[in-house]
Amino acid sequence: MTAKTAFARNQWYVVAYGTEVGREELLARTVCGEPLVLYRTEEGAAVALADRCVHRRYPLSASRLDGDRVVCGYHGFTYDTTGTCVYVPGQRRIPRTARVASYPLVEQDSFVWVWIGDPALAATTAPPRAPWLADPAWATVSGMEPLAARYGLLVDNLLDLSHETYLHGGYIGTPEVAETPITTEADDEHNIVRVSRRMADAACPPFYAKSTGIEGRITRWQDIEYHAPCLYQLHSRIAPVGVLPEEDGSDPNGFHTEIVYAITPSTENTTYDFWAVARDFAQEDQEVSDFLHKFNREVVLQDVTALDLLEKIVADEPDSVQELSINIDTGGLAARRILRRLCEESGTAEGTAEGTAAAARAAR
Ligand code: FES
Ligand SMILES: [Fe+2]
Repeated sequence: MTAKTAFARNQWYVVAYGTEVGREELLARTVCGEPLVLYRTEEGAAVALADRCVHRRYPLSASRLDGDRVVCGYHGFTYDTTGTCVYVPGQRRIPRTARVASYPLVEQDSFVWVWIGDPALAATTAPPRAPWLADPAWATVSGMEPLAARYGLLVDNLLDLSHETYLHGGYIGTPEVAETPITTEADDEHNIVRVSRRMADAACPPFYAKSTGIEGRITRWQDIEYHAPCLYQLHSRIAPVGVLPEEDGSDPNGFHTEIVYAITPSTENTTYDFWAVARDFAQEDQEVSDFLHKFNREVVLQDVTALDLLEKIVADEPDSVQELSINIDTGGLAARRILRRLCEESGTAEGTAEGTAAAARAAR
């Protein structure tokens, strides 16, 4: 068996889209091994509590709301939004220890972020931004697919887009993606990895040909920014060859797409794969939205299938198995190094690298 997956604690993770959290249903999500229940107060504030009743461990997500309180569906222990128990059946005295943990939340850019770790430290750092997702100047399609694979495999996958050529051929991959060398930069102070691949003259994959209407070859820039541990951004700029985007990507003739993933570890070998595609063109065009939603979901599911398969392999391999890395892996290796440090800093020293160690070997 490979080493256990470690989680970086004292970090913000995307737990849901804001639209998923409401009053009709209590939403159950598990983040970094911690079961959570989410709902909104009557005034609309999102709340996250531990999803286990202190009495007999019944999941509060299988319970009901009474105003802003959760009434346990088993014997009626009732909790307020801070997780304090305010009612127990059959007696007046409420035990001092009758409370469940409540988790700090931040809502921004259409996401609900949860702080996993010491709640007292939540105010010391803010979740990273993905401003396009809630900006009316951009049109966004999004979704979430559950992965039966450890999160390290998804980090590896997203940091190395050369797999587009093989796993997503006919969708977003063309030969130039795998052929073009990358530049990688690690910012250890801010826990960011940047990987750029700039193709001056490349085939236009169906994903962009259909959504932009471009016929013929394109200049295609892929600039990845991974904010460890959770937020991944792919700044994609394309233009017909000869209409080069400006260095800052501001060229009005280019088509800009912001592809955002939130990589949220659920359990040791399951992950929430949140994905969103925001564009600054054809914003009003529902057909383009429908196409991008369907097409990108299919691409995500191609990754899900591959990573679920890979998880089965790495889960059964001994730690001693070696993988072989090449130039395309520099981004993924930088990400693993930062994740390992974040895990060590939060006291969960077992490495994530081992968890993904067999990935490249199995994929080659
Ligand atoms: S398990 Fe919740 S009240 Fe008994
Ligand atoms: Fe992929």
